[in-house]
Amino acid sequence: MAKTLIAFFSRADENYFGGAMRYVKTGNTEIVVNGMKEMLPADTFKIEMKEPYSPVYMTCIDQAKKDLKNNVRPELTAYPDSLDEYDTVILAYPNYWGTMPMAVFTFLERYDFTGKKILPLCTNEGSGMGHSESDIRKAAPGAEVKKGLAITGSRAANAGGAVKKWLADNNLI
Ligand SMILES: Cc1cc2nc3c(=O)[nH]c(=O)nc-3n(C[C@H](O)[C@H](O)[C@H](O)COP(=O)(O)O)c2cc1C
Repeated sequence: MAKTLIAFFSRADENYFGGAMRYVKTGNTEIVVNGMKEMLPADTFKIEMKEPYSPVYMTCIDQAKKDLKNNVRPELTAYPDSLDEYDTVILAYPNYWGTMPMAVFTFLERYDFTGKKILPLCTNEGSGMGHSESDIRKAAPGAEVKKGLAITGSRAANAGGAVKKWLADNNLI
């Protein structure tokens, strides 16, 4: 049977919400994913860095910028043994400097996505998907990368309607 995996990266702690910094327990992308889990049958996998970025927003900004500049592939805390059982992967991540966090590249490059569909979902504060969709195409050659869904991170809790429509457009619900 066709199975779906929701793989996501999300960072809690200090973030920037429409003009103010705030500490949160659950990151924006994870809030969207938690809502999505109620909408369709899917397994989930959280992409986590062995050495996570700082809880302090401005430090995290610098660390992520440096990792992008150096094109690093941070080690993850865990890796699924295989993605063979999934025909669709919903890949959810925040926009970091116009693309995905480098840990998402680590995840994508580890597996063979040939013949699988990837549905990108990107939370952001104004840059939309950035160039993440073309970066996914390069990192996962052979995958069919569908049109992504951009969600404003600070409005993650209200994204349900847009997510539902996107899943329906892709015949997942
Ligand atoms: C390191 C870093 C870089 C970011 N770069 C961008 C950016 O280039 N464009 C943008 O619109 N938002 C950017 N943001 C805002 C995040 O994409 C947004 O807050 C997102 O919803 C965070 O998701 P999370 O809480 O699940 O980690 C950045 C945030 C961080 C921490």
